[in-house]
Amino acid sequence: MRLIHSALLLSLSLLYIPNPISAHFFTNVSSIPPWLNATGSNWESFHNLSGHHFGQSVDGLNRLKSYFHYFGYINGTSNFTDDFDDALKSAVETYQKNFNLNVTGTLDNHTVQQIIKPRCGVADIVNGTSAMNSGKSNNATSSFLSIVARYAFFPGEPRWPEGHYDLTYAFNPEENITNEIRGVFARAFDRWSSVTPLTFELSTSPNSADITIGFFNGEHGDGEPFDGILGTLAHAFSPPSGRFHLDAAESWVVDDDVNKSTSLAAIDLESVAVHEIGHLLGLGHSSVEESIMYPAITTRTRKVELQSDDIMGIQYLYGANPAGNNGSSTPSSGRETSDGGGALISSSLLSIRAFLAVGFGFLLFF
Ligand SMILES: *[C@@H]1O[C@H](CO)[C@@H](O)[C@H](O)[C@H]1NC(C)=O
Ligand SMILES: *[C@@H]1O[C@H](CO)[C@@H](O)[C@H](O)[C@H]1NC(C)=O
Ligand SMILES: *[C@@H]1O[C@H](CO)[C@@H](O)[C@H](O)[C@H]1NC(C)=O
Ligand SMILES: *[C@@H]1O[C@H](CO)[C@@H](O)[C@H](O)[C@H]1NC(C)=O
Ligand SMILES: *[C@@H]1O[C@H](CO)[C@@H](O)[C@H](O)[C@H]1NC(C)=O
Ligand SMILES: *[C@@H]1O[C@H](CO)[C@@H](O)[C@H](O)[C@H]1NC(C)=O
Ligand SMILES: *[C@@H]1O[C@H](CO)[C@@H](O)[C@H](O)[C@H]1NC(C)=O
Ligand SMILES: *[C@@H]1O[C@H](CO)[C@@H](O)[C@H](O)[C@H]1NC(C)=O
Ligand SMILES: *[C@@H]1O[C@H](CO)[C@@H](O)[C@H](O)[C@H]1NC(C)=O
Ligand SMILES: *[C@@H]1O[C@H](CO)[C@@H](O)[C@H](O)[C@H]1NC(C)=O
Ligand SMILES: *[C@@H]1O[C@H](CO)[C@@H](O)[C@H](O)[C@H]1NC(C)=O
Ligand SMILES: *[C@@H]1O[C@H](CO)[C@@H](O)[C@H](O)[C@H]1NC(C)=O
Ligand SMILES: [Zn+2]
Ligand SMILES: [Zn+2]
Repeated sequence: MRLIHSALLLSLSLLYIPNPISAHFFTNVSSIPPWLNATGSNWESFHNLSGHHFGQSVDGLNRLKSYFHYFGYINGTSNFTDDFDDALKSAVETYQKNFNLNVTGTLDNHTVQQIIKPRCGVADIVNGTSAMNSGKSNNATSSFLSIVARYAFFPGEPRWPEGHYDLTYAFNPEENITNEIRGVFARAFDRWSSVTPLTFELSTSPNSADITIGFFNGEHGDGEPFDGILGTLAHAFSPPSGRFHLDAAESWVVDDDVNKSTSLAAIDLESVAVHEIGHLLGLGHSSVEESIMYPAITTRTRKVELQSDDIMGIQYLYGANPAGNNGSSTPSSGRETSDGGGALISSSLLSIRAFLAVGFGFLLFF
């Protein structure tokens, strides 16, 4: 329901002129100042809710309900109570399915730790449709297929129309975009164009470009305010909106090894850019932890290689690259970001074809 009504929001954003921005870019991770090494986002307070379960009433649960509401897990108003009610229990269960956690319905430690991780601001459930695990069949007979099809789209499968595959992008002119930063975005776009017929070209006129990139603080005209350091990092709209917004408050690492940073706030710009471009092209969130379209992005981590799940999703929308690269991805490259939970899926991706063959063989045989 959010980040979709682009026509409606567009009129809003034309009226709204945000203050000039100065985002924090670092080409040297050692120079991230200690004051940016904050204890984290305001989601950190969710630590306090660890261990609580259905039937309890706990100070702060209303904020957690707002969080779940924001990402599509709870319907209704934003006037939430502190009661651990059915709606919250159901939201927790859906969230746990989507993030490959044990489905307990309670706020166990693993779940709370996942909730507070920085992530993309685009909802996981759009208009009541869960694009991730929870919306897919878990039936044993189709489990092989559901492993393959973790990628997802926005409702109606919006995409750039055929005949409009040569897209242009421009930066908000109020920002000081260096060549290094331009290079980061160019590489991020290249990763998607190398597996599709799409091309991306830098333009200097934001008014006519298909995709516009801007860094903003807080409220910036689309009803989706940024929340300061960590929390939500960026968001982007589905086609053909082309709006790509990043939180100016983050410590954006450009062209340096983000994993060398000691700052707990360091975020790799290219990793976030590759993810958001997926949304700009029509992909929703995936439950495959190694995939680029997984919603959470760990700090001090680089994750830029498209995985099989991403490539299958984007080629469903646009087809393969006619010049030859049909995306024989290397699942191992996603490993650098794994916290452990999703490693099984990653290692099994290589053998999906074998599984499928077995599955179909089974059907044919019987
Ligand atoms: C852009 O750079 C110029 C010159 O370095 C500086 O005066 C200006 O404040 C910068 N603008 C922003 C938004 O950072
Ligand atoms: C990075 O910054 C640190 C601290 O400011 C400095 O000591 C170091 O020389 C810088 N490294 C490079 C490659 O510029
Ligand atoms: C950031 O905080 C962590 C933990 O508090 C600390 O280990 C690290 O040295 C800090 N980094 C900087 C750059 O201050
Ligand atoms: C967590 O709860 C304790 C006591 O219940 C309180 O003192 C503390 O400030 C809370 N922390 C946060 C981050 O809300
Ligand atoms: C919010 O809920 C409380 C209690 O349910 C109610 O008293 C209050 O009027 C509601 N406020 C709004 C704006 O709906
Ligand atoms: C899920 O439950 C199993 C068995 O209780 C436990 O070993 C595992 O650590 C749990 N995993 C998560 C992510 O909570
Ligand atoms: C959950 O974390 C708290 C502290 O963060 C710890 O005291 C507690 O033992 C943990 N519970 C489990 C089941 O790991
Ligand atoms: C939210 O409402 C939509 C219809 O508007 C419905 O399809 C969906 O199941 C609801 N979600 C929850 C969590 O109640
Ligand atoms: C999965 O199982 C449920 C109930 O057993 C059934 O209603 C549903 O149609 C099944 N879905 C698929 C895709 O097999
Ligand atoms: C969301 O759902 C409403 C009614 O349920 C529908 O009118 C609207 O077109 C849907 N929006 C999208 C983007 O699917
Ligand atoms: C950090 O990233 C670089 C490549 O970007 C990699 O070579 C190195 O092994 C990583 N280090 C750690 C500790 O993950
Ligand atoms: C890639 O896929 C396209 C369409 O599926 C096909 O036309 C092309 O020949 C393939 N290229 C290679 C190198 O396999
Ligand atoms: Zn996202
Ligand atoms: Zn925005």
